[in-house]
Amino acid sequence: MPRLRRRGPGGGGLGTSLLREQASHFRHRDGKLYCEGVPAEELVAAYGTPLYVYSRSSIVERYRELDRAFSGVDRLIAYSVKANGNLSILQLLAREGAGADIVSGGELQRALLAGVAPEKIVFSGVGKTIQEMAAALEAGIYGFNIESESELRVLSELASTVGKVAPIALRINPDIESPTPHAYTRTGHRATKFGIPSEDALRLYQLASELPGIRVRGIDVHIGSQIVAVEPYERALTHVLALVDEIRAAGIELEYLDLGGGFGVAYGDGVDASIPDLAAALVPRVADSGLRLILEPGRYIVGHAGVLLTRVLYIKEMGGKTFVVTDAGMNDLLRPSHYASYHAVEPAELHPGRPMIAVDVVGPICETGDFLALDRPLERPAEGELLAIYTVGAYGFSMASQYNARVRPAEVLVEGDAFRLIRRRETVEDLVRGEVEFLESSDTLQT
Ligand code: LLP
Repeated sequence: MPRLRRRGPGGGGLGTSLLREQASHFRHRDGKLYCEGVPAEELVAAYGTPLYVYSRSSIVERYRELDRAFSGVDRLIAYSVKANGNLSILQLLAREGAGADIVSGGELQRALLAGVAPEKIVFSGVGKTIQEMAAALEAGIYGFNIESESELRVLSELASTVGKVAPIALRINPDIESPTPHAYTRTGHRATKFGIPSEDALRLYQLASELPGIRVRGIDVHIGSQIVAVEPYERALTHVLALVDEIRAAGIELEYLDLGGGFGVAYGDGVDASIPDLAAALVPRVADSGLRLILEPGRYIVGHAGVLLTRVLYIKEMGGKTFVVTDAGMNDLLRPSHYASYHAVEPAELHPGRPMIAVDVVGPICETGDFLALDRPLERPAEGELLAIYTVGAYGFSMASQYNARVRPAEVLVEGDAFRLIRRRETVEDLVRGEVEFLESSDTLQT
């Protein structure tokens, strides 16, 4: 197996496909990429490209690792649906016992359809609409993570009107700037839209305990996404536990502590968040508090479980550069252009004799920002061959769009030697549904 030299997001260090493959359910065997026991080529022959391929074992192992690591406390792993909301993946996790962290009425429906128990659902997000809150109240979710006084009052009025009681936690903004690779994924400091400033917490807990239709149940914090270090979580915990003392001293009982998600994974070089270290740092203190622990991991569970297979359409040499034009673009995988994020790229079939060259892997979208990898050493591919883009199980398909009127890719789940289509490729009919009826009746425009 050739050892590819790759540069991580920060440049510098060396990585090898060998190292990554040891930790992954995607491996080259005799030079050909497999997901678990199935050759990538076979999947592409069945479903075409671009294609999201997920390893079922990877998802299950990661979920179980988390659940086991935190077994020293009463806990709920509420999988963050936004990372990958495919119904089959949600169902898989629900059957493992996972709950769901949702941020919209759509995610609520996805979680319920997939069989997630309503009493294992927490509802986060700064902009919940009344309709979304009503649906969640009706379903009987575990808790609303409240992000503003206005939202609290709207929920109180709604719950009183429909004769229900809404369980809530206040999401605290601990003013911690977490070390994530991109400013867009930092949520724990003052200058973001997230959470309630700590100095308002006690007053709002008092208000919540008096408002009709509201039952104070917990406290919540989420400091960001793609965090590998333990220390920011320790700081967040210290911050929130101090508030818990104050809230309890004011005679308000709390049942749960939601520490959010954000546990990072290695995209290039670097390491995944250490779950044993996190658990060692957090579990004893949470156990002492007597609170139930809720976690909202998304990326950690599904990130490594997904690969995007794409076909090389054309190779262009221009301006001293080699562009590898693939049939996947920023509409299929937004992360590289949105966060300048690094995803490892490799040929699905290795050809050890070929030269390594630096290439830009770009998509077909009419934007200069449409790239999957820039200035990347890659075994020189040939037109028509397949490339694999790694670690796209989280925020890959879920951020895909139909930009340039492109259909979104198919998704397939592999288990051992078997595989199952879990979302068919969209069709042009999917793109125009919802519009054609208006086209037919558009002779008379309303003025
Ligand atoms: N809980 C809350 C309140 C969140 O806002 C998020 C992520 C999570 C949990 C799950 O975070 P995770 O464990 O997956 O890191 N699209 C970006 C990430 C944005 C995450 C937004 N919130 C990306 O592609 O990196």
